[in-house]
Amino acid sequence: MAADSNLSFAFDPHADPVPVSERDQLLANPGFGRVFTDHMVTIRYADGRGWHDAKVHPRVPLQIDPACSVLHYAQEIFEGLKAYRLADGGAALFRPEANARRFRESAERLAMAQLPEELFLESCRQLVKADRDWFPQIEGGSLYLRPFMIASEVFLGVKPSSEYLYMVIASAVGAYFKGGAPAVSLWVSQDFTRAAPGGTGAAKCGGNYAASLLAQSEAIRNGCDQVVFLDAAERRWIEELGGMNVFFVMDDGSLVTPPLSGTILPGITRDSLITLARGMGLTVREERYGIDQWRADAGSGRLREAFACGTAAVVTPIGTVRAPGVEFTIGNAGPGLVTEKLRSALVDIQRGIAPDPHGWVERL
Ligand code: COI
Repeated sequence: MAADSNLSFAFDPHADPVPVSERDQLLANPGFGRVFTDHMVTIRYADGRGWHDAKVHPRVPLQIDPACSVLHYAQEIFEGLKAYRLADGGAALFRPEANARRFRESAERLAMAQLPEELFLESCRQLVKADRDWFPQIEGGSLYLRPFMIASEVFLGVKPSSEYLYMVIASAVGAYFKGGAPAVSLWVSQDFTRAAPGGTGAAKCGGNYAASLLAQSEAIRNGCDQVVFLDAAERRWIEELGGMNVFFVMDDGSLVTPPLSGTILPGITRDSLITLARGMGLTVREERYGIDQWRADAGSGRLREAFACGTAAVVTPIGTVRAPGVEFTIGNAGPGLVTEKLRSALVDIQRGIAPDPHGWVERL
């Protein structure tokens, strides 16, 4: 283990936390990504010095120099993982080591310093411990952790930064989609792609999401909840949505999901669902699936269900798909049986209701 991995965290508790009555009001209906807890974690990195100054302290606005390289060249990565209140009152993280690994891989792709995985894990544990009173006690509620890292060197030359600031913030969340819609609608982007071969599509970096926003706005303008991207080379193969992976359920009960070709985010929910589906005896094929085939299969009934998945979205059924002059519906445009079975299997493990045969739940 690198010496950096053994850093201990200083704790500076919030002197003036959100009052309990105000917190309870916020937690009754938090929505997604707007309600933040009292504390945050920071760890600094500098070439020659390594990782240092690990702290849990009050959540405060950042003060950074306007020449900080992240503001100019977008060297930034992030993760998203949830902490759950368990059925027995304890708390747990779901597969945090998978997020720690992906964070390190994203750092490598963005030429950033790689945070030791043990430090990532400890930073998440420390923040949940400090903000353990911030779990929303509502159906589907959780504490969403957002570890992220920015290039903090004050320099305008184009090169990898020699300094980084790693942080974790936490947000009390309910459902990602407003109103907990029974199924979402998708807009197939014609003019924009998310990632090209050799690009950063498999890394979880802010730039990928920035690049998706114009297409996402177009989806909203066309009355859809999310954009779905086709591949950059042939504009034919389904890749992923603006912020989540996608699965298709066929009439023989088998599942298809786009392969991890390097342009798709290797989702941890995606990976968990593949394992759960195979454990249920279902066939899962990680193979390319084209937009024309999608339309034909939805029309013929060969395609029974489709769903989006991700940490934030969990498992969300897809009801309708639109493109200019085209609209088709999948199954009964609501939650299908296989989708619902997989969603329950996942959520029950995450919340400690079902056994955890894969050792995915880290009890805190
Ligand atoms: C997540 O599911 O955690 C994501 O990062 C997707 C989105 C909220 C950006």
